[in-house]
Amino acid sequence: MTMSSTPFPEFDLSGRVAIVTGAARGLGRAIALDFARYGADLVACDILPEVRTLEAQAGALGRRALARELDVCDIPAVRAMVDGAVKAFGRIDILVNCAGINIPQSALEVTEDAWDKILGLNLKALFFCCQAAGRVMVAQASGRIINISSTMGSVGMARRAAYSSSKAGVNLLTKVLAIEWAPHGVNVNAIAPTFVETPLTRPMFEERGFRDSVVSQIPKGHIANLKDVTGAALYLAADASAMVTGHVLLVDGGWTAH
Ligand SMILES: NC(=O)c1ccc[n+]([C@@H]2O[C@H](COP(=O)([O-])OP(=O)(O)OC[C@H]3O[C@@H](n4cnc5c(N)ncnc54)[C@H](O)[C@@H]3O)[C@@H](O)[C@H]2O)c1
Repeated sequence: MTMSSTPFPEFDLSGRVAIVTGAARGLGRAIALDFARYGADLVACDILPEVRTLEAQAGALGRRALARELDVCDIPAVRAMVDGAVKAFGRIDILVNCAGINIPQSALEVTEDAWDKILGLNLKALFFCCQAAGRVMVAQASGRIINISSTMGSVGMARRAAYSSSKAGVNLLTKVLAIEWAPHGVNVNAIAPTFVETPLTRPMFEERGFRDSVVSQIPKGHIANLKDVTGAALYLAADASAMVTGHVLLVDGGWTAH
């Protein structure tokens, strides 16, 4: 299917190749599938074996997909995955860094292990995924990188010392990469969603009073859904956003408008 007959061909991803990390479930899976619906071929990565089911799902949409069971903290393995993507598809047009974790702990209780896990995945691994794909994109003089940050990178929230630090780091890293790579045709942006119910956040919503306290911060009066985030990702991946780089797109229902 080609989308070029639609009123907005600027959103067509036909013929584009997208790497999505954290694609086995949650936001990453939703983004990968919506990219496939809009025409993109996929390289889907995750530490969980469930990522493999995306090959058949993308195939059913008429797209080619490679699933890679991979720990993105393993930097040589990330580089090998990027090389494999180039070998299979000849180019990389889009990278979505969605793999991420949170281990909510009060600041007095944060362990070194939890700090290293959160910063190691959310910030360090994300940077080296940007670097590996960025080398290909800079060489081909085009590309889109979308880093999945969080509203918690812009506002503080209790029990998020490591998580908020990692996401604030992602926001600034996004701007630095945007500046370095803009002359080479590579746009680098971030999406900073408020809460969405996914396997990551489901246990948080089981805590008494958590949902009410979150919703009380959101002028729109409800948490986000997967489509709110995939729509933002489609925009940042597509020609429609050609002039947008170094931006952190808050999909926060107005949380940070206060
Ligand atoms: N759900 C939310 O409310 C929310 C809000 C703001 C930002 N985010 C961010 O969105 C991203 C996705 O979150 P989600 O809610 O979909 O979580 P999720 O737990 O449902 O999905 C995250 C995926 O990343 C994968 N992953 C974890 N460690 C990995 C590793 N080392 N290597 C490769 N893959 C790994 C997991 O297996 C999982 O499939 C995260 O970066 C998160 O911080 C989520």
